[in-house]
Amino acid sequence: MSREHALDDWYPVADTVLPQIRATRLLDTDLSVAWDGETASVTGPDGTAYPAEIRFDHVWTCLGPAPRPLFGIEEADQPGRRRVPCGGVRVRCSPLRAVENFLDIAHFPYVHTGILGAEPHTEVFPYEVKIREEVDEVWATKVSFYQPQAAKSAGGATDIRYEYRVPHPMAAVLYKTCPPRPSEWDVIAIFVQPVSETVCIAWPWMALFDDTSSQAELVQFQQEIFLQDRSILENQIPAGLPLDPRMEIPTRADLTSVAYRRWLKRRGALYGALTEAE
Ligand SMILES: [Fe+2]
Repeated sequence: MSREHALDDWYPVADTVLPQIRATRLLDTDLSVAWDGETASVTGPDGTAYPAEIRFDHVWTCLGPAPRPLFGIEEADQPGRRRVPCGGVRVRCSPLRAVENFLDIAHFPYVHTGILGAEPHTEVFPYEVKIREEVDEVWATKVSFYQPQAAKSAGGATDIRYEYRVPHPMAAVLYKTCPPRPSEWDVIAIFVQPVSETVCIAWPWMALFDDTSSQAELVQFQQEIFLQDRSILENQIPAGLPLDPRMEIPTRADLTSVAYRRWLKRRGALYGALTEAE
């Protein structure tokens, strides 16, 4: 529902790693995306040309008449960072479920065992969540968690600090302790392409300080984590994200999820959501 509202946001439809022509689908519309290494074009089935923007190593497009501004990530242009587009992963779930899963910390020890979490270190310590009204974004801060292998660059287990930011209904940015540079945050984002209300393509992207790992190693590390998430995501019932708080009882660790759902509802970003108990 509410496809009209979703039309005015920008979405990733390809990465810019290699020149390509790609047939894909966005918000139930077939698209052809061409990227020649310098410019991109996005064309609909009837020949309609849609706008194409290059941002964060992806081609973004907007199908609607009144595009909302696309958010920024200032670390994307910071000298010395490695930018790592990790490729698209197709998932049979609501695009909103993919974002919500990215925000969920409590699943780390169970789904990403030995990497992002480990039993018995399953406790999620209290943290702060709010909607920052001045920018209309959801932020979770002061998140900390024990991680056996927090990043490719981490030598061993560490207590990791996180901040989460949701600047767009289908994108989330994670700021995370950077093992080789304690004064900086590593940035890991997920940009979600809504194919339909129940299928999406997740495009993980990172901007890191890491002088030792190869690009392929960094991509592989992120993909391994995301494939673990995919099997969880594809088994969630119902496929849509429930926005009615009576439908799924949130726990203490799911504060970010509660704020995200409330923010979506308030914003009218209901594509991929369920608003009534069915
Ligand atoms: Fe996960």
